[in-house]
Amino acid sequence: MDYLEINGGNKLSGTVTISGAKNAALPIIAATILSDKEVTLTNLPNVVDIRTLLKLLTMLGGTVDHDKTVAKINNGTITSTKAVYEIVSQMRASILVLGPLLARFGECEVSLPGGCAIGQRPIDLHLQALEAMGAVIEIKGGYVRAEAPNGLIGTKIIFDKITVGGTENIVMAAALAKGTTTIMNAAKEPEIVQLCEMIADAGVKIEGIGTGILIIEGTDGKPLEFKEVKIIPDRIEAGTYLCAGAITKSEITLLSVNPEHISSSIDKLETMGCSFDIHEDSITIHPADTLKPVSLITIEYPGFPTDMQAQFMAVAALAEGESMVEERLFENRFMHVSELNRLGADIWLKGSIAAVKGVDKFYAADVMATDLRASSALVLAALVAEGTTNVRRIYHLDRGYDDLEGKLTALGADIKRKQES
Ligand code: EPZ
Repeated sequence: MDYLEINGGNKLSGTVTISGAKNAALPIIAATILSDKEVTLTNLPNVVDIRTLLKLLTMLGGTVDHDKTVAKINNGTITSTKAVYEIVSQMRASILVLGPLLARFGECEVSLPGGCAIGQRPIDLHLQALEAMGAVIEIKGGYVRAEAPNGLIGTKIIFDKITVGGTENIVMAAALAKGTTTIMNAAKEPEIVQLCEMIADAGVKIEGIGTGILIIEGTDGKPLEFKEVKIIPDRIEAGTYLCAGAITKSEITLLSVNPEHISSSIDKLETMGCSFDIHEDSITIHPADTLKPVSLITIEYPGFPTDMQAQFMAVAALAEGESMVEERLFENRFMHVSELNRLGADIWLKGSIAAVKGVDKFYAADVMATDLRASSALVLAALVAEGTTNVRRIYHLDRGYDDLEGKLTALGADIKRKQES
């Protein structure tokens, strides 16, 4: 198993190019199932989760030609509608094939994803919405079996809770449904906006893109013809590099970013004393000499993202004073706390709230990554810890960060990938 060996203390400088967004690419790859023609996707991040979902498409019989950042996908050749446990258990986002498979083929079987390191993460809202659209759903043998032999029917869906994956699944299902689907309390993340734009560019009428109410006129089963899609920049990767600048007190420029998508992270880093030069698709962070404490509450977009909570906690742990972090989206997304404390942080946890008392310094230790974003928080902390930190279980990082150690090395960090002996 690989691990990262990081010698802390180096200043960073220079530019880093942000990759395409994993969480935009995954639903867009799933959406290609809505078409029986070839679709070209560009600016894909070169990460394991993307390869996993593309592999799932090939297992269904789809034809995939993938080279790092570009994939040509033809789902005209699909012969199976069963998404097996071996793939879904590797990556929860595989559940995103449920809506498009059901909409295009009138039936499918998708393994239940199960829980994960950050919380229970049920899919009840996805299933309820599909049932409201006329699907008959049964859970048997660990699989969701869904049927809608006469096609899905547009209806009004009110999500009890804002769900990113649920909104994506229903947008895709609604695209081929009969009639109009109205999704109330829809998620508004930039990744959802891009999915809606891709589908709208294929001729489906969608009103309310980027708002909490989406109105979608389905094609009544007619497959879509997509134009080429260039994946938007990864706002979480971008936010992570801003945190790298803040924690190492380094000036870094991010290229290929959408500053609007990271405005909540920029805002919080400004509160902490950092300043920024912001251009249309680049941003430079000027670090604070002394980091000030901050209050963070994770909430849906455009609020502060749960996917940045761990990285900010690493930065706040070195601020002068006490910060407060409340995690409202996932019940167990604090696994990094004990690992950060092993590096010398002083974080006290009660339920969904963490009190982060700033310390002067981190000291190197062996730490273990527990989920994707927790892993990047440990890397950030290791960049400034005194001594050599080994970050283990980095397969989590490989799922979602494109060439993290290459990009950090180019910025001047001392970081090496090694193999456990
Ligand atoms: C997406 O997960 C992202 N994943 C997550 O990023 C991100 O943390 C999350 O949205 C929130 O922003 C992808 O885009 C692939 P949700 P998703 O449905 O869609 C509850 C990362 O690190 N819920 O918006 O699974 C759920 O348990 C990952 O890149 C239900 O109760 O998130 C959670 O508490 C991790 N029932 C809340 O809603 C449901 O049916 C929000 O989850 C669905 C969700």
